[in-house]
Amino acid sequence: MPAPRPGPALVAEKEIAARVAELGRAITRDYAEASLVLVGVLQGAIPFVADLMRAVSLDLTVDFLRASSYGASTTSSGTVRLVADLSVDIADRHVLIVDDIVDTGHTLATLKRALGARGPRSVRACVLLDKTGRRETEVTVDYVGFTIPNVFVVGYGLDYEGLYRNLPYVAALDGI
Ligand code: IMP
Ligand code: MG
Repeated sequence: MPAPRPGPALVAEKEIAARVAELGRAITRDYAEASLVLVGVLQGAIPFVADLMRAVSLDLTVDFLRASSYGASTTSSGTVRLVADLSVDIADRHVLIVDDIVDTGHTLATLKRALGARGPRSVRACVLLDKTGRRETEVTVDYVGFTIPNVFVVGYGLDYEGLYRNLPYVAALDGI
């Protein structure tokens, strides 16, 4: 069987840029005067965090953590581990978790719970993509770039077995 390859763009580069600018304006408005920490989830959120942070006109701190779930490579298993932690103290800060996609919801639910236990003023989440049809656990996502159907996607940070994160657009993976 041939290796799966990205198909045509599902979300084009220009659409992403326009939506990121809108999200940046909304975050700027909602957190006016607050002490904000953007928490990027490695590695998928790298391009999104890089673009989003420059669309937010506030004093903010950026930090990263890494989560991993056991199980198959194209689906989350529900057992999420924090494999690399933040380097900043989030006590008394407003925290906005930034991730590439929310699928089953396990990753975001676990991260919100873990960070919420550290005494932050608030913990919210911003994701570029939302596969609403796949949710297995209830989790509030405060900012969503695009709602997409239940297809496996790559690009703009999202990978298939480590590949295709560098595509500047989001595409469905053909052949899986
Ligand atoms: P969840 O825990 O099922 O919500 O999954 C979240 C994580 O699974 C994301 O941060 C991604 O790393 C990965 N993931 C879920 N769906 C996709 C996809 O379509 N393409 C690439 N990675 C995905
Ligand atoms: Mg991820």
